[in-house]
Amino acid sequence: MRIRTFADYQTAYQRSVDDPEAFWAEVAQEFQWRKPWTKTLQWNFEEPSIKWFPGGKLNITENVLDRHLRDRPNQPAIIWEPNDPAEPSVTLSYKMLHDYVCRFANVLKRNGVKKGDRVCIYMPMVPELAVAVLACARVGAIHSVVFGGFSAQSIADRINDAQCSVVITSDGAARGNKSIPMKDTVDDALIGCPSVQRVIVMTHTRTAVSMRKGRDVWWETEMKQVTSDCPAEEMDAEDPLFILYTSGSTGKPKGVVHTVGGYMVYAQYTFENVFQVEPGDIHFCTADVGWITGHSYIVYGPLLAGSTSIIFEGVPTWPDAGRFWDIVDRHRVTILYTAPTAIRSLMGFGTEPLAGKDLSSLRVLGSVGEPINEEAWNWYNEHIGKGRCPIVDTWWQTETGGILISPLAGITKTKPTYATLPLPGVQPLLVDEAGKEIEGNGVSGNLCIRFPWPGILRTTWGDHERCRQTYFSTYPGLYFTGDGCLRDEDGYYRITGRVDDVLNVSGHRIGTAEVENAINMHTGVVESAVVGYPHDIKGQGIYAYVITEGDPGSGGHDADLMRRDILATVSRIIGPIAKPDKIQFVSGLPKTRSGKIMRRILRKIAEGDTNNLGDTTTLLDPAVVEDIKSGAM
Ligand code: WTA
Repeated sequence: MRIRTFADYQTAYQRSVDDPEAFWAEVAQEFQWRKPWTKTLQWNFEEPSIKWFPGGKLNITENVLDRHLRDRPNQPAIIWEPNDPAEPSVTLSYKMLHDYVCRFANVLKRNGVKKGDRVCIYMPMVPELAVAVLACARVGAIHSVVFGGFSAQSIADRINDAQCSVVITSDGAARGNKSIPMKDTVDDALIGCPSVQRVIVMTHTRTAVSMRKGRDVWWETEMKQVTSDCPAEEMDAEDPLFILYTSGSTGKPKGVVHTVGGYMVYAQYTFENVFQVEPGDIHFCTADVGWITGHSYIVYGPLLAGSTSIIFEGVPTWPDAGRFWDIVDRHRVTILYTAPTAIRSLMGFGTEPLAGKDLSSLRVLGSVGEPINEEAWNWYNEHIGKGRCPIVDTWWQTETGGILISPLAGITKTKPTYATLPLPGVQPLLVDEAGKEIEGNGVSGNLCIRFPWPGILRTTWGDHERCRQTYFSTYPGLYFTGDGCLRDEDGYYRITGRVDDVLNVSGHRIGTAEVENAINMHTGVVESAVVGYPHDIKGQGIYAYVITEGDPGSGGHDADLMRRDILATVSRIIGPIAKPDKIQFVSGLPKTRSGKIMRRILRKIAEGDTNNLGDTTTLLDPAVVEDIKSGAM
């Protein structure tokens, strides 16, 4: 099923559209199943109900680990690069990883974890994070990884939504010159989480932590009690594999659910074909396992494919801005997969951090998470790829499980800022506001997909109706991505950004409503409205308009303190990644007569485009607009 040429791609694509079931059945056959599936696909986008390979029995870890024990037991599966470059890196071969996962799976069982239970994982970027994820999959538990930068409140919300019975964490984490108290944060979260019976704490930074008797146990002590013999639990292809929370335009984050069989097939297929993986590849994806990119292209994709995956604990700019290049050099990285925001931030340091770094091992460069601007694309191409590495600008989402639109490295002709063409099995279309398909080339519209691929989400945890409403009801019969998109004269796709109230800040998805709710938690705040604005490095910055009780003014001590208090509140409720970049105190918000905030106007003001506000006559009080304009930051 490997695509090697553009003609292969065209053939595969055509086949995947003409006969999707035959196409994916053939791909799926390359995996290790305990029992074959009874039907390749059953679906409708109305409920929605999507089942790939139902009746098929398997355990994904037998495909991630056991199947490699014969051909590559001693090949590195994971290379761990610690935060501090002075400390040694750690390499785990497939054999060692298999052993480690089986032992930890036995620890989970010892601690009462059974098939179908939900386990929350809140850990730094250490090999044990991947081990914890895979051990859950081995025993059939559903993992819910929570990004290490989220607050106690966010952890608690996620644990409660999924009713997790076990939490896996570490004493602390190190990122750059910061040390982060992971266990303390979990302790704060657990005050409001009655479902949690057990906390397994891995020793990492040796920071002092409180250990609650009867609830908290040490990872290392538990590991001494078990053997490495752990037969994998037999799962149905449609049993849930994991829940991953992601932000939408309304309310709290949703738990996107992916299932075992389809996700597995899609993760490996996309990984191998997009990056044109070869034996011996060293894959460095700089995302965090707390996001979908880390799930699919640090853990599952590379390990399913039998590649070597780097897990990097630190940050790109510590101890200096040459850290990525140092890692590429020392570990002879062949595939580098990172986000535009990282490229833009490193660009700012010029080429000096590249001096003396040997990047000749690189073969493929990838970009993910947000639109990549031309300047960043060119810098990446010239200075990192030296003009000889294809760049794959991969577009996809938490909900899609894997990459949907992307060049295939070295095969698809690239074009800066274009994600180019859909992968086999992916049928994109553009629609107008009314849901009418926009045909032909040289057009733009809202991006939808008309047919399921194996990695599509199946539901949102505990609330199927929300899944239907969010993704399948805007345009009946279609999956709606929430993204705007342009299709150029060559039929190439370029994703232009979200058309809903979802922000993309440094490649992190954040809902405006979530940030507003957090700001509104501050005692002194009456109301707020949050919009995104273009930001040189982050892609988008967060601009908050806030009405307070009493006027803190726009400058001076009071306003400053109020701003800091609001930032602290948002940090506490969501996490530092959601802190607004700008806070403007206003006396009113532009509302329609029916009370709806006109965000279009607020967006324009945040962008500094105040001469183009459009029609403001329908506003309840057009005067507030002048007021806001005069105080804009
Ligand atoms: C955006 C991350 C442009 C898009 C994998 C999408 C992109 C959202 C690209 C999903 C890209 C992701 N070009 N935009 N190559 N990749 N996006 O769920 O708006 O964290 O809807 O998944 O990121 O973010 P998520």
